[in-house]
Amino acid sequence: MDVQTVAPVGSAAIAFGGPAVAVAGGISLLFLKSFLSQQRANPSHLPSVPVVPGLPLLGNLLELKEKKPYKTFTRWAETYGPIYSIKTGANSMVVVNSNHLAKEAMVTRFDSISTRKLSKALQILTADKSMVAMSDYDEYHKTVKRNLLTSILGPAAQKRHRAHRDAMADNLSTQLHALAPNSPHEAINLREIFQSELLSLAFKQTFGKDIKSIYVGDLGTTITKEEILQILVLDPMMGAIDVDWRDFFPYLKWIPNTRLEKKIEQMYIRREAVMKALIQEHTKRIHSGENLDSYIDYLLSEAEPLTEVQLLMSLWEPIIETADTTMVTTEWAMYELAKHPKKQERLYKEIRNVCGSEKITEEKLCKMPYLSAVFHETLRVHSPVAIIPLRYVHENTELGGYHVPAGTEIAVNIYGCNMEKELWENPEEWNPERFLAENQPINLQRTMAFGGGKRVCAGAMQAMLLACVGIGRMVQEFEWRVKDDFGEDVNTLGLTTQKLNPMLAVIKPRN
Ligand code: HEM
Repeated sequence: MDVQTVAPVGSAAIAFGGPAVAVAGGISLLFLKSFLSQQRANPSHLPSVPVVPGLPLLGNLLELKEKKPYKTFTRWAETYGPIYSIKTGANSMVVVNSNHLAKEAMVTRFDSISTRKLSKALQILTADKSMVAMSDYDEYHKTVKRNLLTSILGPAAQKRHRAHRDAMADNLSTQLHALAPNSPHEAINLREIFQSELLSLAFKQTFGKDIKSIYVGDLGTTITKEEILQILVLDPMMGAIDVDWRDFFPYLKWIPNTRLEKKIEQMYIRREAVMKALIQEHTKRIHSGENLDSYIDYLLSEAEPLTEVQLLMSLWEPIIETADTTMVTTEWAMYELAKHPKKQERLYKEIRNVCGSEKITEEKLCKMPYLSAVFHETLRVHSPVAIIPLRYVHENTELGGYHVPAGTEIAVNIYGCNMEKELWENPEEWNPERFLAENQPINLQRTMAFGGGKRVCAGAMQAMLLACVGIGRMVQEFEWRVKDDFGEDVNTLGLTTQKLNPMLAVIKPRN
């Protein structure tokens, strides 16, 4: 610290009297002030989290420019340890890269780390936290999460929606059999087929029936299912991670960023228009006396009343969540199986032993440890949500024995946790066999791909049922290999880590 910085404290004495005593007095006063304020902020006397050095003003922003921050975070953990702090412009963020620290953050210290600070884009797209996954942990969160679990995602609701999942597996099989004769000349784009089926399932659960097209009054046109997918799922997934530089420099938020605001607002308006059309159509159906086992029927008749925006967001949430992460997991699993013929063969043998000539069903899943291992190993290596949506520390707390002050953002790097060399041998390798050695059912906490604690994923059971039956059925009926391998290209630019280029596969019917 140079004397210039101290000047304001005793500037008159320094300028006119000039004695060293005045300077020394000024310095010690400043130290005392800063010491006292640190003690107030850090009453626990714990050390501060190790810091990754960065640039003045920008902090570590430039190093995070590449689109896979979870990989950069994992690399930094090798140098700075499993927990460290970085600066993203004016914001402080603590990054956690180990399984036990992640549990501490998500479970033990939950009471101090249960809110979220959203980017400008997410603020708009979530209608200011009006959805379960992005809200703070408050009464609204508890009510809408309960609604989702009661009507769609909890065990009883999943039982009621079983027929929709069975229909989805059958449709998938029918479509693949129709395309198989053209394979290998025409590559199979599994993503296209699987995502469209997931969207149908989401519509059935949310509105009671599949939707092939809809007239959207506010857009003045009829749109197809593909266009609905674009507006309700694909655009918001990309918009959610749009970077507004003002997020990093809140003191500059008075400067307009019209291009970004317009783009995100357009997404909001188009989504609102489509959702409104769907809600109107199904409100009419309900008023006409046609009731179905669907989320909109439940929300309009049994649940606590919601505002118009809350109703829209509640109905949109399971659509975007159903159509994305399960597809990402299933595509990665099939890609890995297609690249590893011996492991694919091992899975096929397990299915044949358990199911014989019958098709695979949900009841049989508990008898197939290798299929379960394939699912969990895929979640470990290709965790669709590689970084848990940022949490915000709203009161001073501690993590890993370090002091973490209020106002810090917390990034739990699930990918980094799953690359811990102390826990996983050759962690980068996709090797389902690693789970079989444990010889017991795999606990979701092993990979934490679904988060943990009170904010654990509400859709884990649905995702597991859909992905495992889907993968099982595809391997039971076809032999898979990759046609054009673009490598393990990853697009983290959506909220989830999907393959940048869809897997293009060659399939051959078995028997
Ligand atoms: C493989 C598929 C999936 C993965 C890997 C996954 C992962 C996650 C993760 C990591 C979280 C964040 C937990 C946190 O903030 O601590 C989450 C939250 C959530 N997920 Fe999933 N998810 C998947 C599928 C689904 C599906 C299919 C649905 C619903 C249809 C769903 C609904 C939710 C909801 C509502 C939350 C918010 C829970 C809360 O904040 O209390 N997820 N998910």
